[in-house]
Amino acid sequence: MGADIHHRLLTEGALDRLAIVARVDTNTAVTVLDGTDQLAGIEVLFTHWGAPELTEEALRRLPRLRAVVHAAGSVKHHVTEAVWRHGITVSSAAAANALPVAEFTLAAILFAGKRVLDIAQRYATTRAQPDLLPYYSGHGNYRRTVGIVGASRIGRRVIDLLRPHDFDVLLHDPYVDAAEARSLGVTPAPLDELVRRSDVVSVHAPQLPETRHMFDARRIALLKDGATLVNTARGSLVDTAALTAHLVTGRVHAVLDVTEPDVPPADSPLYTLPNVLLTPHIAGSLGNELHRMTDWAVDEVVRYAKGLPFAYEVGPEELSRSA
Ligand SMILES: NC(=O)c1ccc[n+]([C@@H]2O[C@H](COP(=O)([O-])OP(=O)(O)OC[C@H]3O[C@@H](n4cnc5c(N)ncnc54)[C@H](O)[C@@H]3O)[C@@H](O)[C@H]2O)c1
Repeated sequence: MGADIHHRLLTEGALDRLAIVARVDTNTAVTVLDGTDQLAGIEVLFTHWGAPELTEEALRRLPRLRAVVHAAGSVKHHVTEAVWRHGITVSSAAAANALPVAEFTLAAILFAGKRVLDIAQRYATTRAQPDLLPYYSGHGNYRRTVGIVGASRIGRRVIDLLRPHDFDVLLHDPYVDAAEARSLGVTPAPLDELVRRSDVVSVHAPQLPETRHMFDARRIALLKDGATLVNTARGSLVDTAALTAHLVTGRVHAVLDVTEPDVPPADSPLYTLPNVLLTPHIAGSLGNELHRMTDWAVDEVVRYAKGLPFAYEVGPEELSRSA
């Protein structure tokens, strides 16, 4: 893992639990897989952000390596084809990272329905009781339609969190058939139809070549007047310029935790438009939520030590269509 991660993100309690089931030097984090002898006996790598790439050459220095347990989300940065070729098992804490993103999304959806952001901004500007009459028709969180794009780990968790509310939920995911969608309690829909029908569209698909600009100018134009687009996935899934053109007119609203580029130019209207909530990629684990990922990863090492299969194993087929 990266040099500064070890002491900042791995809690004492978690390291103590690791030390019960493994011989582990909890004071030293390996930041580079160089030729030191220290690597030769390693059976399990406990990785985090900034982990060095597990190339063929790196794996030659880790002849006993059987498993990689990642205490953060995507393993795509360090797990290479060589890892699968060597039959090494990989686990990721992406499911733990899905929880805060889904919570952020639920809040975004509920606030969008209630028009909380623009009413609050209007209040701050006028410092007087705003005329709420325009908000009494067509707004609120009763019998609204929410479109979920991607039954990913996060998308599924959002579906779970929406269940107690009075929403009709549509789902688009090319890997989920109608029977599975029904078992999730949602209505499957082609993407264009989902966009046309939803009051809030929430994007949870992974960044893949085929999802680049899945929200292009044509599709963004299909959003209903007054609809909200929530993007907590990746900036590349939405054509930011095309969306901005619609946002500037006030026709639609957006909650954007991710954009392309990651930080919009300083003169971007996204920072100040009343119908936009722009956040700097904070939906995922932050603060104490990072400890949840560590705890889940330690649980995986404990399972390994007991000879049990990982609860959150990731494999090469799944990675080709996941984040
Ligand atoms: N904002 C944040 O802080 C934050 C944190 C974590 C993840 N993310 C992002 O959230 C998104 C979801 O992450 P995840 O871990 O839940 O993903 P995941 O890896 O679980 O997603 C994989 C699933 O996405 C679905 N999918 C694949 N291609 C699709 C397509 N073309 N259209 C619709 N669905 C498709 C399939 O069901 C697939 O199994 C990713 O883009 C990820 O990068 C953001």
